[in-house]
Amino acid sequence: MSTELPRVDVAVVGGGVIGLAAAWRARQRGLEVAVLEREAGLGTGASRAAAGMLAPVAEADLNERDLLLANLESARRWPAFAAELADVTGIDVGYRACGTLLVARDRDEAEHVERERDARERLGLRVERMLGSAARRIEPALAPSLRLAVELPDDHAVEPLRVVAALAEACVRAGVHVRTGVEVNPDLSTIPAERVVIAAGAWSGALGDVPVRPVKGQSLRLRDPSGPGLCDHVLRFEGGYLVPRGDGRYYLGATVEERGFDTAITALGVYELLREASEILPGILELEIEEALTGFRPGTPDNAPVIGVDPRDERIVWATGHYRNGILLCPVTADLVAAALTGEASEHAGLRPDRFATAPQEAATP
Ligand code: FAD
Ligand code: GLY
Repeated sequence: MSTELPRVDVAVVGGGVIGLAAAWRARQRGLEVAVLEREAGLGTGASRAAAGMLAPVAEADLNERDLLLANLESARRWPAFAAELADVTGIDVGYRACGTLLVARDRDEAEHVERERDARERLGLRVERMLGSAARRIEPALAPSLRLAVELPDDHAVEPLRVVAALAEACVRAGVHVRTGVEVNPDLSTIPAERVVIAAGAWSGALGDVPVRPVKGQSLRLRDPSGPGLCDHVLRFEGGYLVPRGDGRYYLGATVEERGFDTAITALGVYELLREASEILPGILELEIEEALTGFRPGTPDNAPVIGVDPRDERIVWATGHYRNGILLCPVTADLVAAALTGEASEHAGLRPDRFATAPQEAATP
C-alpha cells in the first residue's frame, strides 16, 4: 500500500464511475475519503467502455424487481445529478434528453417490441407505438423496411467518459484523496482506513466473497465526418443499440459474451454489430470507425448490483455488480453507499450483499 496515503475514514477501491460517485457522496457527508485505483488513470474499466444509456427497463426483466426499482429511481435522479456535477465542476456530462426508439424488422422482433411496450405500460411509463413508416418521419434515415417501432420518450443517455471526468473533478474539489497506480491486494487489513468500499467492477470477486463475474462487451465508436443528423434518438434493436452523441459521434454496442477477461476485439463481434445496425440504419456504413473497444460488465447471478455492508465483516461495504446498468445506477448507488457508511437507514434492501450469503457450515461431528 502506498505510504503516501494518510489514514482515512473510508478507502474506496476502484476509480470507475461507481467508486468515484460513492467517494464524492461520502466526502459530502464529512468523511475523510481516498480512492485507490490500480491503473494510471481513472475510469479505464467498464466505465470507459459503456454506452451511457439511461434505460431503466431495457436491460431488466419485470421479475427483477429490486433492479427495476433502483433503475427507475436512478433514472429519475439523473437530471439533478448531472446538473449538480455541472454546477460543482463546470463539466457537462453530455446528458441528452433524446428519447429512444425500439425498432423491429420482422414479426418475431415485432412481438418482442410489443412485449417491451407492454412491460413499460404496466410500470406506468410513457410509450408510443408506431408503424415503421411513422418512425421514419421521426428518424428519416431508418430503413424503409422496418415493421414496427415504439418510442420511449424518457429513455435518455449521458457520455460515460464525461461522467468519469466530472466525478473525478468533483472528488478532487471536495478533498477526496485520489491515488492512481495503487493496486489493492486481497488482504484488505493493510489499507489504512476505518472502512473499505469495494467498487472494483468486474474484478471485485478477487477482493472478497462476492459472486461477480466479467461479461465482455465489444463496441465501436463511430463518427460522421459530415457532422450530426444521421439519427437523433437512441436506437435499440435485436442484437444491439446505437447511441448518438448529438455532434456526429455515435456509439454502437454491444456484444454480451461470457469469456472471462478476454480483451480480444473479434471480426465476428464487429461484423455482427455492423450488420444488425446497418439493417436498421443503412447510413451507418458511411461512418468512420474511431475506436473499437472491449469492456467487462460486472455481472451477478441475479443481474442486480451488490450494495451494502458485508454480512461477515462490517468494515467492508460492497458497491459492485452493476452489470449493464452501472452508469444509470450511479446516483442511487452513491447515496446507498454513503448511507451504509454513516449508518443511515436506506431503501433498496434487496440489493444488499447478504442475499448471497451462504449459511455457515455446521461443524462436522466427530
Ligand atoms: P469499472 O468502471 O470497471 O471500474 C472498476 C475499477 O476498479 C477499474 O478502474 C479497475 O482498474 C479498478 N480495480 C479493479 N481491481 C482493483 C484493485 N485490486 N485495486 C485497485 N483498483 C482496482 N451501463 C449503463 O448504465 N448504461 C449503458 O449504456 C451501459 N453500456 C455498457 C456497454 C458496455 C459495452 C459495457 C461493458 C458496460 C456498459 N454499462 C452500461 C455498464 C457499466 O459500464 C458498468 O456497470 C459500470 O461502468 C461499472 O462501473 P464500476 O465503477 O463498478 O466498474
Ligand atoms: N447497457 C448496455 C450494455 O450493457 O451493453
